Amino acid sequence: MDYLEIEGNNKLSGTITIDGAKNAALPLLAMTILSQSEVKIENLPRVNDVFTMLKLLENLGASYSFEGNCAKIDASSIHNTTAIYDIVRKMRASILTLGPLLARFGKCEVSLPGGCAIGQRPIDLHLKALEMMGAEIVIEQGYVRATAPEGLKGTTIVFDKITVTGTENIVMAAALAKGETKIINAAKEPEVVQLCEVLNASGVKIEGIGSDELIIHGTEQKLLTIDTISVIPDRIEAGTYLCAGAITNSEITLKKVNHTHLFAIILKLQEMGFDFDLGQDSITIKPAVKTKGTKIITSEYPGFPTDMQAQFMALALVAEGASSIDEKLFENRFMHVSELIRMGANIILSNHTATVEGNNELNGADVMATDLRASSALVLAALVAKGTTKVHRIYHLDRGYVGLEKKLQQLGAKVKRLKE
Ligand code: UD1
Repeated sequence: MDYLEIEGNNKLSGTITIDGAKNAALPLLAMTILSQSEVKIENLPRVNDVFTMLKLLENLGASYSFEGNCAKIDASSIHNTTAIYDIVRKMRASILTLGPLLARFGKCEVSLPGGCAIGQRPIDLHLKALEMMGAEIVIEQGYVRATAPEGLKGTTIVFDKITVTGTENIVMAAALAKGETKIINAAKEPEVVQLCEVLNASGVKIEGIGSDELIIHGTEQKLLTIDTISVIPDRIEAGTYLCAGAITNSEITLKKVNHTHLFAIILKLQEMGFDFDLGQDSITIKPAVKTKGTKIITSEYPGFPTDMQAQFMALALVAEGASSIDEKLFENRFMHVSELIRMGANIILSNHTATVEGNNELNGADVMATDLRASSALVLAALVAKGTTKVHRIYHLDRGYVGLEKKLQQLGAKVKRLKE
């Protein structure tokens, strides 16, 4: 198993390029199931979750090539409709194959993804919506077995809670359904927007894109022809590197970003004392004269993303004032706290709120990555800690960050990937 060894207390400088968004890439890959011919996807990030989704599609009968950042996926040859446990257990987002498989084949079996480190993460809202569209669903032997012998039918769905992959699954199911599907209380994350835009350009008329009310006009099982797609920039990867610049109080530049997706993150960093130069598709963070604590409440887009909560906690540790972080989306997303405390952090947890004392003197330690974003918080803390930090179990990081240590090295950080 690999681990990262990080020598802290160094300034960063320079420029790096941000990759395509993992969370946009995964639904787009699942969407290829709806296509009658090969789909070319550019700016696809070479992260393990993307490889897992490609493997799942291959296991269903699709073929693909993936060179550089460009993949060509031909899902027309899919014949198997079972998303097996062995692949699904590696990545919860495999559930994104449920909607498109059911829409195209009228039946499928997808292994239940189960809970994960950050919480229980049920899929009840995905299933309820599919049932409203005419699917019959049973849970047997750890699998969701869904059938829709007469095809899925458009209807009105109101999500009790905003769900990103739930919205994506139902949009893809509705794309081939009969008639109109209305989704009320839909997620409006940029990744959901890109999926809707691609479908809309491929013959599935979608109204309300970017709003919380979507109307999808289904094609009645007619498969789609999809033009080349370029995955949007990863706002969470960009946000994580902005935090790397902030925590080391350094000037760094990120290329290939979309600032409009980063507003909540930029505004919080401004509140904390950092300044920015915005280029057309680049952003430079400038050192702060004095850093202030902050108050964060995670929420759905366009609010502050839960996927940036851990990184801001690391940053809050070195701000010159206390901060509070309220996690509203996931019940157990504070796994990084105990590891940060091992590095000398003063954090008090009470239910869903973490109170973070500022001005912490962090020291290097052996720490354990527990989930994708928690791991990046440990790396950020290590960049300012005195001495050496070893971040173990970095397979979590490899699920979602392209060459994290290489990009940090490019910025002058002293980071090495080593074997246990
Ligand atoms: C997606 C993102 C993840 C991000 C999260 C919230 C992908 C691949 N992953 O995850 O990085 O942290 O959005 O922005 O895009 N819920 C239910 N029942 C359901 C579905 C969800 O109760 O059927 C709850 C969840 O437990 C959670 C909340 O709804 O409390 C939001 O979850 P959801 O938006 O579905 O997260 P994911 O789509 O799994």
